[in-house]
Amino acid sequence: MKLLVIGGGGREHALAWRLAQSPRVQKVFVAPGNGGTAQAEHLENVPLASIDELVDFARQESVAYTVVGPEAPLAAGVVDAFQAAGLKIFGPTKAAAQLESSKDYAKAFMIRHNIPTAAYKTFTDADQAKAYIRQQGAPIVVKADGLAAGKGVVVAATEDEALAAIDNMLCDASLGAAGARVVIEECLQGEEASFIVMCDRRQVLVLATSQDHKRLLDNDQGPNTGGMGAYSPAPIITPALHNRIMREVIHPTLQGMAKDGHPYTGFLYAGLMIGDGPDATRPLKVLEFNCRMGDPETQPILMRAKGDLATVFEHAVNGTLEEAELDWDRRTALGVVMASAGYPQAPRTGDVITSLPADTEDCVVFHAGTALHDDGTLRTAGGRVLCVTALGDSVKRAQETAYNAVQQIRFEGAQYRRDIGWRALPHSH
Ligand code: AMP
Ligand code: GLY
Repeated sequence: MKLLVIGGGGREHALAWRLAQSPRVQKVFVAPGNGGTAQAEHLENVPLASIDELVDFARQESVAYTVVGPEAPLAAGVVDAFQAAGLKIFGPTKAAAQLESSKDYAKAFMIRHNIPTAAYKTFTDADQAKAYIRQQGAPIVVKADGLAAGKGVVVAATEDEALAAIDNMLCDASLGAAGARVVIEECLQGEEASFIVMCDRRQVLVLATSQDHKRLLDNDQGPNTGGMGAYSPAPIITPALHNRIMREVIHPTLQGMAKDGHPYTGFLYAGLMIGDGPDATRPLKVLEFNCRMGDPETQPILMRAKGDLATVFEHAVNGTLEEAELDWDRRTALGVVMASAGYPQAPRTGDVITSLPADTEDCVVFHAGTALHDDGTLRTAGGRVLCVTALGDSVKRAQETAYNAVQQIRFEGAQYRRDIGWRALPHSH
């Protein structure tokens, strides 16, 4: 069968790479793809952008089903359009994708259905927002309501920072319509983890746990980014905590969506904040929902996935997820993002990338912002450029393999963290 993956980042390279390993898959089209998917066996980039073009293409090529990587096409209704055309696709409808595309929707939903999350209030008026910030004090978190490509959250250590975020979003409209409404919420403390499941309306298939590194610099310093590296599993999620997450977060969310008339299909990603204490009672709260897999979490998660992913997705789009089989490599997978000069504020593009090591069983270089030029050079084409992902018997071994490969790769101005996986090191042998 032929499949289509929508997107062009590291997450989509990893999805297409894993799907193409199925003996049942002839080809995976990637729209629009990147410099990595342009060169890989059984993958083919297709330069499609609009939903209409994607629908026409899937129909013409008799694509068996489509998998959506990023949030923007989901929020724009790509799943609704495919379903209206009688085409199979894995993802939530536009209405269900509001869990990610509107923070206010997600917060109101969680309160309505008793899903644990930080206390909050929503504002469109700057003076009222500022009065609330002064009343609550710092630290406090200001979030743009809409999709803002990772730039919409300000974790303010001081009142002045929070007030400046209000000026930016509500007064200067720096994020456009996405920031015309803001959610202001209580600042939570603890350790973050990503918990991602696949849903087909009735059944849930839980993916391996993971942890992202949001800050640009070592020791979690510097600005927030889309994610500078990730590893799987996240040792903080013990079996006891796993059960609590299913009981307190995942099941109530799926039941709530169904009750509200938006039965959920697709990936559901719960970004969690886990406080201190014994597993039975430690604070567990949802920071955010995403209606897709994470980037870069997908890269280490799929390095560990064993079995035929194409058949798993087929079950998901056919509503037979309970029959799907997915096992996980017991090893740790760890991905280090290499970003371009100037990322995240003003990424420089066009730098030549050389000395990429060949992929091996335990180390794969996933591409994100790369482009293969007509002259045969591979060049940077975005903020996050590569995610070098390795498997190891311990966190340390996975780190060694990943960083050995990272150190071989050359492009002008490359930035990467040296400490991906630091939180998991003490738990590993
Ligand atoms: P979000 O897009 O909502 O996940 O926010 C991005 C990042 O901001 C999260 O991964 C956290 O690191 C941080 N963050 C979001 N909400 C809170 C909160 N209520 N308390 C502390 N940190 C937060
Ligand atoms: N790495 C976080 C995200 O994909 O939202």
